[in-house]
Amino acid sequence: MKALILSGGHGTRLRPLTYSQQKQLIPVANKPILFYAIEDVIEAGVDEIGIIVGPNKEQVMETVNSVDWSAEIEFIYQGEPKGLAHAILVAEEFLDEDFVMYLGDNILREGIVEHAEKFKKSNCDASIMLAEVKNPQQFGVAELNEDGTIRRLIEKPKVPPSNLALVGIYFFKPVIHEAVKSIRPSWRNELEITDAIQWLIDHRYEVRWTKVTGWWKDTGKPEDILEANRLVLDGLKPKNEGEVENSKIIGRVVIESGARIKDSVVKGPCIIGHNCKIVNSYIGPYTSLGKECEIDGTEIEDSVIMDGSKVINAGRIVESLIGRGVKIQEFDHMPRGYRLIVGDNSSIVL
Ligand code: G1P
Repeated sequence: MKALILSGGHGTRLRPLTYSQQKQLIPVANKPILFYAIEDVIEAGVDEIGIIVGPNKEQVMETVNSVDWSAEIEFIYQGEPKGLAHAILVAEEFLDEDFVMYLGDNILREGIVEHAEKFKKSNCDASIMLAEVKNPQQFGVAELNEDGTIRRLIEKPKVPPSNLALVGIYFFKPVIHEAVKSIRPSWRNELEITDAIQWLIDHRYEVRWTKVTGWWKDTGKPEDILEANRLVLDGLKPKNEGEVENSKIIGRVVIESGARIKDSVVKGPCIIGHNCKIVNSYIGPYTSLGKECEIDGTEIEDSVIMDGSKVINAGRIVESLIGRGVKIQEFDHMPRGYRLIVGDNSSIVL
């Protein structure tokens, strides 16, 4: 089985971060979201992966190529993102056998090994993964028959027929190529994967489903990144490769190499990146600090702070998503007031 992982799109709901960074490269517990997908498909036995790239293709290629993966990786350029089924059209030549399609912004606890096994054993034409959600309107939704088979799939229904959302991971036999060529663009002018799977159902191909039992997150919005960060940090195994001086480290904390913590309290689960410097501060639960961050005289909790950012005497920061190379500091001269240099579409709550 091959894998097709999607890492294109504009990520508009994650602006301003996505002006400079491809959405699937945003870190969760100090690892790009995309890497969780790559790890999952490799764990399921895939050794040839095609990654769909779009607007920031160089960035994605460089980040993926910085790791020595135990699978062959090929990049496939999508051009304008015209939907998930369009990505399959673009990758048709690469996808010459059964494959798993994995949306690179999805992250799930249990991986896909069991789901892949069931697909292989069942010999069905496609297998989807469903998860119970509270907000089915925001996803593709499945309506089941009484015997548990799939009756219908609807993309973002106003009145959802169930609370079973389509997870962004799909298993296909090559017949899907015929389906993606047969459907028309939706109201949002995209070739929807949901419509392609519905085409299979309507033409009497066998489409099965498996249920996701652990947590699953589609990281489309800032609050999703924070939630995914919490979920991953909950499973953290503590380790200390840094230096700790006159400080208290409580609970499950990862301190990466070269990090220095002085006169501070760090309460897990949290992760302190390579070469971070923390002085006279409190780093609270569910915080991920990227590499080379500097935190001085500040309390931070439940936040993701990316590489090279500095937070100095900034009071208490909670539930925040802070990009790379950001500086936040107290200003103690006159005139008093907030001095902000903030990118387009940023969000500040004071
Ligand atoms: C896509 C699919 C949707 C699925 C979701 C999962 O939505 O169209 O059916 O439930 O991914 O992440 P999109 O992220 O394009 O809105």
